[in-house]
Amino acid sequence: MDSSPSRSAQHLEDLVRLLGADVVLPLSANERYGSDMTEDLFFPPDVVVVPNTVEQVSQLLRWCNERRVPVVARGAGTGLSGGALAVRAGVCLSMERFNRIVSIDEANFQATVEPGVINYVFQQALAEKGLFYPPDPSSWGSSTLGGNLAHNAGGPKAVKYGVTNAYVLNLEVVLADGTVMWTGANTLKNSTGYNLTQLFVGSEGTLGVITKAVFRLLPLPLHKVLILAPFGSAQQACASVAALFKAGFNPCALEFMERDAIEYTLPYVPDAPIRLEQGVEAHLLIEFDGNDLGALTEQALGAAELLTEQHGAGAVLFADSEKDREALWKLRRKVGEAVKMHSVYKEEDTVVPRAHLPELLAGVKEIGSRYGFQSVCYGHAGDGNLHVNILKGDLSEERWTSGLDPAIREIFALCKRLGGTLSGEHGVGWVQKSYLEVVQAPEHIELQRQIKRLFDPNNILNPDKIFPTVRAF
Ligand code: LAC
Ligand code: ZN
Repeated sequence: MDSSPSRSAQHLEDLVRLLGADVVLPLSANERYGSDMTEDLFFPPDVVVVPNTVEQVSQLLRWCNERRVPVVARGAGTGLSGGALAVRAGVCLSMERFNRIVSIDEANFQATVEPGVINYVFQQALAEKGLFYPPDPSSWGSSTLGGNLAHNAGGPKAVKYGVTNAYVLNLEVVLADGTVMWTGANTLKNSTGYNLTQLFVGSEGTLGVITKAVFRLLPLPLHKVLILAPFGSAQQACASVAALFKAGFNPCALEFMERDAIEYTLPYVPDAPIRLEQGVEAHLLIEFDGNDLGALTEQALGAAELLTEQHGAGAVLFADSEKDREALWKLRRKVGEAVKMHSVYKEEDTVVPRAHLPELLAGVKEIGSRYGFQSVCYGHAGDGNLHVNILKGDLSEERWTSGLDPAIREIFALCKRLGGTLSGEHGVGWVQKSYLEVVQAPEHIELQRQIKRLFDPNNILNPDKIFPTVRAF
């Protein structure tokens, strides 16, 4: 459904009357809110609303619910599965003004935040107090905690610390009919009824709108040691990942980058201390954190020794200076963006139990060679979470359009066979929903639909996301 000028004008008028002129953006803003970071998809809403208060969110949802107007909650628009796209037009509910860190409770190691707070801003505010919120998606400089919650975002540190859901204690949410409620309690333990808090995490704005979150925090580790190991074979790099854990190492990041990923990204981060020597096909970027620098260095040395002596790694680089460390992380965080600048692409977020990573990589390459596309792989190897960027490159338009869907299906079927699924951290959103059936049984999907129906009987909350559209409901 495209946005229509007359509907836009009517919504604008009604919502200005309901919420006030400062809360509804001029229609010229619609385009700016029509895309996220997913491919070149563009679905402008009819109107963009930027509320200041929970009461305004509640009034808006009640209004939308009564009139069956779709409403898509939006953070910073950095999502990679099209979750924030207004695919049925309607209202874009931008939570950008909900950007306060409400409180940091140092005694209880907790913080209460609004969903529009930028992940990195939160991390910095905590670091000043010696506190730590581990989830650190590559987009942390711009993505919001609300968006992170909506997709259950991960990031490099997930391998040691877990993803967003591991830190959420309690959420204030607004339901489709405008009801405002809390989902849990501000406690580290909670065995009181169904876990509605976790149900909202990763629900991609389909069940309600998060207006506050209470996170648990950790003490900030004092030191980090980062190493970079080159491999002559991407397979070998992947195979060494499980071996590192088996040998007792507990890195706080274990990232994989194929040669092409680095090659495409280096121009954007020329000071990164990586030389792509001939024959090097992949790198592992491995970090250890903790309070005892000597022990961390020992772990890093031990890991380097294991990788070179038993897994074919070349000379391991120790990123000794803060400058090198930062440049390597900048490079790693920029890979996704850089690879996408290269060609028309499709991005997948495959995930399998980590020891199956070599089979996943081999399968992706084999499927690619059959369909004729190039793939650039990188990601959170320690989590078995491989980002697969399928590039159109020189492929003809015809082969690209006809081959893409079956190839993606094959990749997801492989994930499923290996005990994995189709997204580790980017969500299902708009672009993966037609593949859900590849990895989930019909009864699994149907039960989720029933939950959706219960929370949102009029299907106004981010409709057409997560589930394939087999029928309107
Ligand atoms: C990353 C994003 C794409 O890992 O998830 O860089
Ligand atoms: Zn990632």
